Amino acid sequence: MSEQDLPLCPADYAAHDAAYQRKRAAGFAGWSDAEELAEQLELLDGLFSHSAIPVAGRALDLGCGAGNISFWLESRGYSVTGIDVSRVAIDWAIEQGRLSDSIVNFAVANAAQDNLDFEDKFDLVLDNYCLHCIIGRDRDRYLSNIFHNLLPGGIYICNTMCAELRDPDELSFFDAKSRTYMRNGIALRYIGRHEDIINEIKAVGFEILQMELFTDEIQDSMSIIAQRH
Ligand SMILES: C[S@@+](CC[C@H](N)C(=O)[O-])C[C@H]1O[C@@H](n2cnc3c(N)ncnc32)[C@H](O)[C@@H]1O
Repeated sequence: MSEQDLPLCPADYAAHDAAYQRKRAAGFAGWSDAEELAEQLELLDGLFSHSAIPVAGRALDLGCGAGNISFWLESRGYSVTGIDVSRVAIDWAIEQGRLSDSIVNFAVANAAQDNLDFEDKFDLVLDNYCLHCIIGRDRDRYLSNIFHNLLPGGIYICNTMCAELRDPDELSFFDAKSRTYMRNGIALRYIGRHEDIINEIKAVGFEILQMELFTDEIQDSMSIIAQRH
């Protein structure tokens, strides 16, 4: 799908604040509950066995939420920065960091803003289920920001929802034209076809090193490892 084809549909990234308030009150570990988090860390463990992934260096955790994946990266020896659009999530991450010896640097930032620029570039960008939150033409900006903030040879690892969506509740809000599910006119998630997502990542200059598709009775997802040359 070309950038021109992507419809202009309003996103509300700040809505994640309310979700974090609910999840924290419900006793979640962060965005996910403890069981889902353990499954995600197992998936990441497998992805990190790829030979192209640097074993140390500077890592950026995009859409880091309450920081659990950032702490995992730190425990593997990376020097970690975590950013998220949600102030509630970042406050939660900072609080969790203070309870341990973590020195992860957390900040509130919109990863799809114009020209997101870190002075010190990264060896690795990890995007654990943030890309599907990014809607319409913001996606090109988001992916370009990742490319721009990686060192040459740097690696982008992405886990994202993709088609097919099978959840009957969410399907009833699915808009096939924009491939988003929408509530009250706001697009909440982009459910792209896997080939379109791969093409978006290639279009900003990445080489795809690995792609794995996971089918599920509710929602498919994919893992991608890409490299900046
Ligand atoms: C599905 S959650 C995953 C959170 C975290 N990566 C994890 O695995 O626990 C998606 C995250 O992306 C963040 N997010 C959504 N849009 C964003 C944006 N434009 N810039 C930065 N973060 C964003 C949300 O606030 C949320 O924390």
